[in-house]
Parts: sequence; structure tokens; C-alpha cells
Amino acid sequence: MKIGIANDHAATEMKFEILQYLESKGYEVVNFGTDSNESTDYAIWGKMLADAVVSGTVDRGIAICGTGLGIGITCNKVKGIRAAICSESLSARYSRLHNNSNIIAFGARIIGVETAKEIVDEFLITEFEGGRHQRRVDQIKAVEEQNL
Ligand code: RB5
Repeated sequence: MKIGIANDHAATEMKFEILQYLESKGYEVVNFGTDSNESTDYAIWGKMLADAVVSGTVDRGIAICGTGLGIGITCNKVKGIRAAICSESLSARYSRLHNNSNIIAFGARIIGVETAKEIVDEFLITEFEGGRHQRRVDQIKAVEEQNL
């Protein structure tokens, strides 16, 4: 599985920790940046990551900003993205089981790196359940297409 990761300046340090963690587990990770602590705008990085997920350049994405909110909300504006903004791993797990999330977002100013690793682990190992949840995910798509 190829994973994309993107962040703003508030999350550069955490991004590198998660990047190293995933590479040590054997995942291929594409780093979309920023790699700097200079103030920047989360929408730029979130859009880049979301486009890569939708195009299939990467299979899933990890988005980090100060709170996870700005970058997560941005990702959700791109058609086909289901970004789950989480501060603990149970929500990350259910975002996969029930919502088929394709991006996970969290805040470097909100959670510690160990919690972030737990969130990422659940996001990457949990499979979508399908069944009745597929119907609901299809309805999310219908909302996107203004057909619901
Ligand atoms: C940047 O200061 C901060 O606003 C950003 O990282 C994020 O928390 C916004 O949602």
C-alpha cells in the first residue's frame, strides 16, 4: 500500500516522526510537504494530498495540521475524499469499517505522537466492512453529486 502524507508548519515535526515510523514498518510513503517550520497554509498541502488519493497516485492519505481540522476539512472538499478527523484510534478504526475513509487527519497540537501512531495503525490495517455501509458511502457520493 502506498501512503501519502501532508502537513502544514504546525505539524512538520510530527509528520517526520510518522513518516519514519511507517517506513520502519515497510510502507512506501510519499511526502507531499511542507518540510519547513515556516508559516504556510494548510489548504495547499491538503489539496495536494487529496488530489493524489483521488487520482490513485497513493492509496491512502495522512493529513496533519495544528488541530487536524483545517487540513481535514480541506481534504473533504475534494470529490471522492472521505477524510476522518480523529483524536483517538477507535474513531480511526470505525472510519475505515463504516465510512471507508481514505484520508485520516489529526492535530499535532492536540495529540501526542504515540496516539498519532495508534491512529495511523488502525487506519492502515482496518478493512471496510461493506454491506449496509456501502449503501451509506454511496449516499455520501450522491450528496457530493447533489443527487440526494
Ligand atoms: C496554524 O496556525 C493552524 O491554524 C493550523 O495548523 C490548523 O490548526 C488549522 O486548522
